[in-house]
Amino acid sequence: MTYKTDFLVIGSGVAGLMFALNASRFGHVTIVTKKSLMESNTAYAQGGIAAVFGQLDSFDLHIEDSLASGDGLCNREVAEMVVKNGPERIQELVKLGVNFNLKKDGDINSEELDLGREGGHSQNRIVHAFDTTGKEVMNVLVNRIKKNNNITYYENHIAIDLITFSTRMKSGLVTTNRQDHCCGAYVLDRTTDQIKTFSSKITVLATGGTGKVYQYTSNPDIATGDGIAMAYRAGASVANLEFVQFHPTCLYHPEAKNFLISEAVRGEGGILVDSSGKPFMKEYSPQEDLACRDVVSRAIDSELKKSGADSVFLDITHVDHSFVKKRFPNIYQKCLSLGIDMTKEPIPVVPAAHYMCGGVATDLFGRTDIKRLFALGETACTGLHGANRLASNSLLEALVYAHQAAKQAKKDLSGINFSLTPEPFEWDEVGSTPSDEVCMLTHNWDEIRRFMWEYVGVVRSDRRLERAQRRIDIIQKEIQEYYWDFNVTSDLIELRNIATVSELIIRCAGLRKESRGLHYNIEYPEKNDKLFLKDTVLKRHLM
Ligand code: FAD
Ligand code: SIN
Repeated sequence: MTYKTDFLVIGSGVAGLMFALNASRFGHVTIVTKKSLMESNTAYAQGGIAAVFGQLDSFDLHIEDSLASGDGLCNREVAEMVVKNGPERIQELVKLGVNFNLKKDGDINSEELDLGREGGHSQNRIVHAFDTTGKEVMNVLVNRIKKNNNITYYENHIAIDLITFSTRMKSGLVTTNRQDHCCGAYVLDRTTDQIKTFSSKITVLATGGTGKVYQYTSNPDIATGDGIAMAYRAGASVANLEFVQFHPTCLYHPEAKNFLISEAVRGEGGILVDSSGKPFMKEYSPQEDLACRDVVSRAIDSELKKSGADSVFLDITHVDHSFVKKRFPNIYQKCLSLGIDMTKEPIPVVPAAHYMCGGVATDLFGRTDIKRLFALGETACTGLHGANRLASNSLLEALVYAHQAAKQAKKDLSGINFSLTPEPFEWDEVGSTPSDEVCMLTHNWDEIRRFMWEYVGVVRSDRRLERAQRRIDIIQKEIQEYYWDFNVTSDLIELRNIATVSELIIRCAGLRKESRGLHYNIEYPEKNDKLFLKDTVLKRHLM
């Protein structure tokens, strides 16, 4: 069965939903999302959205902070465009109904936004809704989507692969020999196991990040890098995948799966200490606890290696207790539920994979190098983050690019005629049978996540990367054989994607023989501007 639409949006985080709302003014939008509309990295965002509102702040300062964090690899034009659009995008959210904290919280006459502070920012500029900014934004956007007559959404639908002009389905084999246009996607309905064909004039990848590639992550289960893997298979350029951001402070507790302790806690005075209570960030950076994330994560890694301890600690017990409870209600309650009162004792924390700075390469409008295919949000590599994203620049980037892409898509739409696009072939499952080896999926999934953590983590070396490459080669081969023999399931789709993304991260990391931003290789501890002041770009050559 083929579903036709003007705009096919894959993913329902802030990037996908904001694009959908904007584009619905120009044509019919279909959203497919692999779980509920709400389930996304966005929904767990804590700290907030960086934008220039402070009296002492300026666009120049925000641009310079972003460039400094990116360690030489940001695209200045992109940083300028994103930063300058920030305040307007925040006002747009306010108009849609998002309630951000105001300066004098509770004073209905105050219209000034309360601005938090995070690592790498020279000014207070984090617009936030307590410590659950993402949830507040998602609640408003999801409500708007549900009421919009020009948007149809399909929950529990997971995209398998993009359809490019010459994609042909024969006995379960995809042969793609020209990839210059995208005309939709094959999507598995997880409730009926049916594979549906979505045919679209414009397709938008907004599938989020890749945290689940690693054993320890702040990300929810949806973050399996599907968009990056699909785009790469279809022949799009992907870039800078070696720059995986490890957030320094994820809660260390056996019962806490993926819980982040926001950088805003350090912004309000929290200090990192070792198990004896001694602060240690002074030894690593003049910015101390508010240094950029790459510096703080490596400092913690080094402290843990020196002491052999399981975690370090984040201490905010010296800050007014009632303020802490009011400012961080979600973090306070979560810690308390695990027996940790953060106003009385330090919180055990460790670094964990948090954000993918690289992704599908795009231009200033979110266009990829495949026509009619856009990539937005964490899936994209726009040039804003360079070698290390500045805190709270991610939601900002997603909002700005959703806006840019919708403007561009409006123009592109009028030039696309369905009758001139070849009808995509329906998915063909001839020859595949239900799986009898589910253990292969769980075994390979666990193995990838473990060796990516150990060999391609905070600190890398050539030898570790080579080991990782050997392992991923074997696993990729196994998955390929399995993929064509058995029916497609969502577990198999995700495993195939985390394997592809792992391979791409390893290859990018192997190519960068220097240390820059988030990529640290002990064999090349210095930056080498002469050879590596450039993006790492990979593109699959299709026959
Ligand atoms: P997501 O919000 O992750 O949405 C991706 C969507 O795609 C989901 O709906 C998912 O189900 C869907 N999807 C994925 N694959 C498929 C598929 N194959 N088929 C169909 N659907 C699919 N950034 C900030 O700027 N400020 C913060 O304060 C902040 N805090 C954070 C806290 C946490 C705990 C985490 C994990 C991240 C945080 N980030 C923060 C990063 C930021 O939240 C994300 O980078 C951003 O939300 C990404 O938005 P997105 O729309 O690109 O992707
Ligand atoms: C946080 O609240 O620490 C996360 C902010 C971000 O990822 O930008």
